[in-house]
Amino acid sequence: MVAATLLQRWARWSLPSLGALLGFLGSYLALYLDPWWFVLAALGWGIVLLGIYDVCQKQSALLANYPVLARLRGLALDLRPFFRSYVVEDDQEGRPYSYESRSLVYRRAAGISSTHPFGTQLDTYREGFNWITHSMAPVNRPAEKPRVLVGAEGTELPYSASVFNISALSFGAISGRAIESLALGARLGNFYLDTGEGGISSYHRRSGGDLVFEIGSGYFGCRDDGGRFDAHAFAEQARQESVRMTEIKLSQGAKPGHGGVLPAAKVSPEVAAARGIPVHRECRSPRAHSAFSTPVELVEFAAEMRRLSGGKPVGIKFCVGQIHEV
Ligand SMILES: Cc1cc2nc3c(=O)[nH]c(=O)nc-3n(C[C@H](O)[C@H](O)[C@H](O)COP(=O)(O)O)c2cc1C
Repeated sequence: MVAATLLQRWARWSLPSLGALLGFLGSYLALYLDPWWFVLAALGWGIVLLGIYDVCQKQSALLANYPVLARLRGLALDLRPFFRSYVVEDDQEGRPYSYESRSLVYRRAAGISSTHPFGTQLDTYREGFNWITHSMAPVNRPAEKPRVLVGAEGTELPYSASVFNISALSFGAISGRAIESLALGARLGNFYLDTGEGGISSYHRRSGGDLVFEIGSGYFGCRDDGGRFDAHAFAEQARQESVRMTEIKLSQGAKPGHGGVLPAAKVSPEVAAARGIPVHRECRSPRAHSAFSTPVELVEFAAEMRRLSGGKPVGIKFCVGQIHEV
């Protein structure tokens, strides 16, 4: 018992005492054998000095109690994601994307075959596993990829949308390069990119792919100086040829009724220009819309958006928190 307590006490001081040992040994050898041993001495005394500093500092109780040793814990924590990802995780683990999903994307991007033979590694007996079954009467691929015509009756410019598209990611939340790549991908794949609530930037327009112009409670890209909806500015944006539909966002999963913040550091001149806000100032999306406040007003507002856009379909995006709200 006593021995265990002593060992525990010593463990706290293990690294500084090891440092002292190396320091003495290195100094002795350097004096009597070869001056090069001073390197070892310097290392040892360095550890001792670091230990003294750790004990004296007041910021971290952990460092004060476990001088030097606690730093190794910090290092291990820093390296944890890399060890998990490269050593511990198996091919199907990992969130939000498994190693296997990521490597599939890398291989396809590099133009290397992404298929490999000899069966699947997935657990096909897992509850909820989805698969495609065989058909006794397979048909050939349709000449045209399936698309969905969007636009209620009376919509002057309905849009034939792909079944898969790119969901809203605002400029500012992601970089110009990322937007440019997504927009180019959308054009090559003949689907649309949703602008997100950050307005339309030059990166969205470069490739000429289809866009859905989204507005949120901040009305970025179509707001007046007070942050309210500006019909004229909206019409200007929404009537651009590449904008095929518009969308009004009430809420999204990551912002359940709390609005949103783009930190000042991210509000570059380009981001500010696309959003119509001051440069390098924190940008807030209010919790609620100021252009409407009831479901009926929302529908009327959507109709107004359609009119202002020259007759393009309008979508509404929201996250349902309470089932009775829909
Ligand atoms: C970086 C980032 C920015 C986003 N910006 C917006 C946005 O401006 N407007 C919006 O409606 N959704 C935005 N979203 C939410 C996505 O459109 C999408 O709804 C969400 O990521 C859930 O889809 P997922 O499960 O496929 O990621 C954003 C998501 C991310 C990760």
